[in-house]
Amino acid sequence: LKTQVAIIGGGPSGMLLSLLLSKEGIDNVVLERSSRDHVLARIRAGVLEWGSVELLRRAGVGARMDRDGHVHNGTRVAWQGEHTMLIDSKKWTGKSFMAYGQSYVTEDLYAAVSEIETPVLHDVSDVQLHELTGASHVTFVQDGVAQRLDCDFIAGCDGFHGVSRQAIPASVQKNYEKVYPFGWLGVLSETPPLPDLWYVQHERGFALASQRSAMLSRYYVQCPITDRVEDWSDERFWNELIARFPPEIGSAIITGPSIEKSIAPLRSFVTEPMRYGALFLCGDAAHIVPPTGAKGLNLALSDVYYLWRGLTQHYQQGSDTLLDRYSEVALDRVWKTERFSWWMTSLLHVFPEQSSFDHRTQAAELNSILASEHAQAWLAEQYAGFPVEDWG
Ligand code: FAD
Ligand code: DHB
Repeated sequence: LKTQVAIIGGGPSGMLLSLLLSKEGIDNVVLERSSRDHVLARIRAGVLEWGSVELLRRAGVGARMDRDGHVHNGTRVAWQGEHTMLIDSKKWTGKSFMAYGQSYVTEDLYAAVSEIETPVLHDVSDVQLHELTGASHVTFVQDGVAQRLDCDFIAGCDGFHGVSRQAIPASVQKNYEKVYPFGWLGVLSETPPLPDLWYVQHERGFALASQRSAMLSRYYVQCPITDRVEDWSDERFWNELIARFPPEIGSAIITGPSIEKSIAPLRSFVTEPMRYGALFLCGDAAHIVPPTGAKGLNLALSDVYYLWRGLTQHYQQGSDTLLDRYSEVALDRVWKTERFSWWMTSLLHVFPEQSSFDHRTQAAELNSILASEHAQAWLAEQYAGFPVEDWG
């Protein structure tokens, strides 16, 4: 087998890259470890920055998002069971954001990629990357048959647990990591969501109200990382969620049976560089942010944007100036976003070692933001998303 760009991983990063490249006439093949149904069943993210919205439209997958997604001008924050403020991204940046589930984005991408008949190989195993600084190729097994895919470039879009990052020699790679001592218990329920998204700081722990559609709500509560889903009956979950909100908001939450319940660990991680020879890492393969601030998917999509432009320049203009700057340009946005997600996490969660002093300074920080238009503007700018270089 032979192609121009081998894409490892058929999550949102890999599929958006595949679609954008195919539209430029650049040959590509996607290798995905799981079945299509498995990929589409992952719940995960729900919030798109406006830059992500525009990129998806540009890729030709904006129609359902524009019809079914819910545009918000801001997100609300509550703390200590009584104070609230609005992160007003529209007012401070002119940008809104869209509540539209990652599973819908992935569905839209799969539909568009299959329409143009780009090959997406599912259920492949033993993917290995070879000769990244020479005659690059990927080997894998499908239906028990060993295959070889020769290519000019490899896009490592295979998420945090993928193989692409491991193909970079340890002598070249530097990893930065922070693991948080708690998780998020997420619940999906067929109930009308609160009209706004809410981030909640409370002495019992963080909580979040989000949404997927008019009759589908997504909620999270911070929980010990040692908890298991079976420890959390629906009743316990709803009681805990509501107890963390200011009473007048908590009482407006409409409860119902959960249709999905899962616990996600929280982690910050960055690998440098994001390029080695013919290999370019995109999305969770290169970096993880804790979900507070809703940045992971958005960061994956901006990586894809940079790589798409670099590969297009290579094939259409015979120049590598963008590819040569890929790692540096992407990492600048990655680190700013890492800092924001770490800070939002630190500000809003209860940490096991936290003293009463730490708890007071957390509340004082939120009170300071509320009292300062400068601080509110900075928070809103970061929440709306850092600029993407040369967007347009
Ligand atoms: P992935 O989605 O992980 O896709 C990687 C793909 O590669 C997978 O399909 C996998 O099966 C495949 N793969 C792995 N290994 C191999 C292999 N060896 N060979 C072939 N294929 C392989 N982000 C936001 O922006 N907003 C949010 O609101 C938000 N909320 C979140 C809430 C939760 C609870 C979680 C867990 C995450 C959230 N995120 C959010 C983060 C977001 O989901 C991820 O950043 C996003 O999925 C990254 O996409 P990706 O395509 O890079 O990686
Ligand atoms: C979701 C929404 C958020 O604002 C966030 O920070 C993380 C996840 C969600 O809808 O899943």
